[in-house]
Amino acid sequence: MAEEKKLFKVTIDNITVEVEPGTTILNAARMVGGEVAPPAMCYYSKLKGSGGKCRTCLVEVAAGSTADPRPMPKLVASCRTTVMDGMIVKNITSDRVHDARAGVVEFLLLNHPLDCPICDQAGECHLQDLSYEHGKEATRYEFGKRTFKKHDLGEFIQLHMTRCILCYRCVFTAEQLTNKRVHGVLDRGDHAEIATYIEKSLDNDFIGNVIDVCPVGALTDKTFRFKNRVWFTKPMDAHRDCPTCCGEVQLWMRGEEVFRVTARKDEWGEIKEASDGKTGWICNTCRFEKKDAKDWVIEHPTHVARHSVISANHYEKMVKPTETMPEVMNGRAPKLLMDIHSVSQVNKPTINLSQIEGPAHSDDFNKG
Ligand code: SF4
Ligand code: FES
Repeated sequence: MAEEKKLFKVTIDNITVEVEPGTTILNAARMVGGEVAPPAMCYYSKLKGSGGKCRTCLVEVAAGSTADPRPMPKLVASCRTTVMDGMIVKNITSDRVHDARAGVVEFLLLNHPLDCPICDQAGECHLQDLSYEHGKEATRYEFGKRTFKKHDLGEFIQLHMTRCILCYRCVFTAEQLTNKRVHGVLDRGDHAEIATYIEKSLDNDFIGNVIDVCPVGALTDKTFRFKNRVWFTKPMDAHRDCPTCCGEVQLWMRGEEVFRVTARKDEWGEIKEASDGKTGWICNTCRFEKKDAKDWVIEHPTHVARHSVISANHYEKMVKPTETMPEVMNGRAPKLLMDIHSVSQVNKPTINLSQIEGPAHSDDFNKG
């Protein structure tokens, strides 16, 4: 009989989980879920070697292990630190972590322009979410923000280097998904930048995935650029029979029009596995060239698991209340019930609002 693997007990924000040895604190926290999972701007579970760059995932280790319960003197990057049996970790329950994360956000914003109103990533930007939670209203930085020479990354992808936080995710994506990486981080320190050597365009079949992994608006889709705000579009799960990739995508639609095609993402903002358990990365053809709803079999509205402005106004289905009045009022009947519908001069009582498809419009009341 196979020997049962010993699991490690780790307590994160007072919640204990059992995980396999070798699991990082971040992944253990993701098993707990919700806010207990630290934010991650550079770690990406599907990309080997990612993590350890941005420091947004810092946590406090209040006890190292059962064998050595001393606290770790410094905050640690949870995406790079593996759990020990009996470890006690504090994330949202630690004031030190809150302070440090606010400091990290301040650093990330030193050079990042506050151009959310015109940035295509607005609404789905992890840095925007972080700065809402931890950012300060003003900067203490007295110097000018970095500027860069413009690089052309080809027909589909737009680079805004000023927004880049040097997380390296796009570099790992190109390295691990395509057969010729032609971009990377050039130079060092304050001069470091994402660039293609001698302006090569990124045109490999799977290179469009760099747009999905970029946590900020540094790499955006040229075919969607400035066309719409994501919160005005409705994400729909759809698929097609694609010879190159899994063909399972999210269509960002307005009415019948497909504005953008992206891979499907999970609650951590990472690419979801395809329904057959294989990788969910999508090819350039699906992403950039299939912008007609007829190209796709539309399944249903996407479940937006990520808490962000992007989840606002995204109704997945109409839920009609089923309770009757006495049920709502613990068995009591209302003393006075005003029937607004039949006394109102505004609506026509003959029109049943619940039978109108979509939001009611003045035309619905002007008919007949
Ligand atoms: S361009 Fe985006 S994905 Fe690439 S390093 Fe910069 S922030 Fe990260
Ligand atoms: S997510 Fe851990 S350092 Fe960036």
